[in-house]
Amino acid sequence: MYRIAIIPGDGTGPEVAVEALKTLEAAAAASGFKYEAVHLDLGGDRYLRTGETLPEGALDELRSYDAIWLGAIGHPDVEPGILEKGILLRIRFELDQYINLRPVKLYPNVETPLKDKGPEDIDFIVVRENTEGLYSGMGGVQYGGTPSEVSTQVHMTTYRGAERAVRFAFEVARNRNREKQLHMVGKTNVLTYVQGTWWRAFNEVGDADYPDIRREYAHVDAASMWFIKNPEWFDVVVTDNIFGDIITDIGAIIQGGMGIAAGGNINPEGVSMFEPIGGSAPKYQGKNVINPLAGINAMQMLIDHLGEADAAERVDNAVVKALESGRIKSMSAGAMGMSTSEVGDFVASLV
Ligand code: IPM
Ligand code: MN
Repeated sequence: MYRIAIIPGDGTGPEVAVEALKTLEAAAAASGFKYEAVHLDLGGDRYLRTGETLPEGALDELRSYDAIWLGAIGHPDVEPGILEKGILLRIRFELDQYINLRPVKLYPNVETPLKDKGPEDIDFIVVRENTEGLYSGMGGVQYGGTPSEVSTQVHMTTYRGAERAVRFAFEVARNRNREKQLHMVGKTNVLTYVQGTWWRAFNEVGDADYPDIRREYAHVDAASMWFIKNPEWFDVVVTDNIFGDIITDIGAIIQGGMGIAAGGNINPEGVSMFEPIGGSAPKYQGKNVINPLAGINAMQMLIDHLGEADAAERVDNAVVKALESGRIKSMSAGAMGMSTSEVGDFVASLV
């Protein structure tokens, strides 16, 4: 019996949660596993009501589940940064979800903005370090609001953090068993201190334990071009937190956009959290037009992470069949030719 926490969150998150849960229910029934889904009220509405981002005890409660599914965090009436730092980043950090795993896979019949590229060209995985770098929160402001204002935001990097991220990425490359190739994406020509730490970890771990995996390197600016011009060059990519944030939005758009892109915040030794990469899309809230496929794909990753490989494969096949049918006209909200709930029912019926 798995215990799964569901954080519907803000905006369209709750509508997407309903559809992702339909898929979970169908997958559990088909593969014969049992679960309990517990809804947690966290997000902008709660913050506006109570002034709390994560209430007392919430982190300990989250640590008690087998996995977490999160819809979206972000509310138009809340100043930027409060919910992101107070909820999403706090969970990632406190649960030590040190990997952000973001598959970039173009499904059949999904439109990519890249000319002459198809599903055979766009199929790679980005392993984003998820607890350090520019996201560490270190730094501050001195003489704020005056002409002398000084601010710093520290690009905090530890060898241990880089080492565990590259090791995870080497494992992904080995287990994917495709090109057996791992790209480090960085900026070793300018950020010589922090990237030096990454470079050392990348090569030491590779030399010691992964002689079967070919190592490649690209600067982040060049990689941003190549994701667009030659996405087929990539198999697995490992990178730091801020570069990973940016390049995975490029990854998301070439795989069809925020309607379909999902990721996982992974603590291989602890509790992991799966989420659509897109935000809360408040302008579509309550209209039954948002694409639930990203949330369904996040649920697919969650099921796989639980070790239910058969169920995970069923969900992936159901998404592929739904797309192959041609009935879902677009990945964009309002242009799918079906409502949010119709897409959810359709996918669940194919599991
Ligand atoms: C993401 C998001 C978050 C991030 C924001 C909402 C804090 O952009 O998951 O990529 O920057 O990591
Ligand atoms: Mn992002």
